[in-house]
Amino acid sequence: MEAHERGFFTEENSVEVVTDRNRNAKDERLKQVMEVITRKLHEAVKEIEPTQEEWFQAVMFLTKTGHLCNEWRQEFILLSDVLGVSMLVDAINNRKPSGASESTVLGPFHVADAPELPMGSNICLDQKGEDMVIHGRILDTEGKPVANAVLDVWQANDEGFYDVQQKGIQPDFNLRGVFRTGPDGGYWFRAVKPKYYPIPDDGTVGKMLTALGRHPYRPAHLHFILKADGFETLTTHIFDPDDPYINSDAVFGVKESLLAEFDKVDDAKRAAELEFAGPFWEVEYDFVLARTKGARG
Ligand code: BEZ
Ligand code: FE
Repeated sequence: MEAHERGFFTEENSVEVVTDRNRNAKDERLKQVMEVITRKLHEAVKEIEPTQEEWFQAVMFLTKTGHLCNEWRQEFILLSDVLGVSMLVDAINNRKPSGASESTVLGPFHVADAPELPMGSNICLDQKGEDMVIHGRILDTEGKPVANAVLDVWQANDEGFYDVQQKGIQPDFNLRGVFRTGPDGGYWFRAVKPKYYPIPDDGTVGKMLTALGRHPYRPAHLHFILKADGFETLTTHIFDPDDPYINSDAVFGVKESLLAEFDKVDDAKRAAELEFAGPFWEVEYDFVLARTKGARG
């Protein structure tokens, strides 16, 4: 009897042998996922034909990636981000009806307990950076305002750091805030113009990017999570289209529809009304929320 007839493992039958060994898995989804992963992984190994040394290097890369993970840092999510997998999972899980705003990655710097602030507040607590006012409406796909929508915003400072990356340097909750819309669905707040910044690049993912001839930068953006009863939660950004990294985001998060216009305003009267010392940036951007699937016609 030949080896493959007995069910022994060979280079040729590797996928079938491993998949057959998993046949008693109780969870059908797990069985399906492992069948696909086994097939694709073996296909990759057969095409690459790694040396033992290369395989060990790959194992050590994953080992070091795991060692970097703790309560504050998730190097595996970062790996998924730079491989485009986070954006792919996001796309698959956020297929929106036409007209609804698009989603993008959450990123690691959201904090759950940012303060709820009155509309118009200035979320910049350290007076650093170029003043910016941002306003718009939260609408449904028919163009009607969404009242009582909660808009959770966070952004990096003028030097490209989030408050949580500079504890003791930036005030707590600097450049973060939660706002609630009134009956007109409108929102507005003051902040500073965001800057591009590198994703954490002092670990295995940063080394991998360098080896691949890639930079670690994300183009300037503001993060938003929008929630309203009867609507799907939207996790998204708006981007500065003039940013030098707008076409090469390290994590592939940019979408055409998320490019906002950042206009420079030199108007002393408006600056005084906004309590800005001089020229400022203005951004107008409307968000469109999709109704939860059950509530859609
Ligand atoms: C962010 O935009 O905050 C971010 C997203 C993915 C990886 C790192 C940072
Ligand atoms: Fe960010």
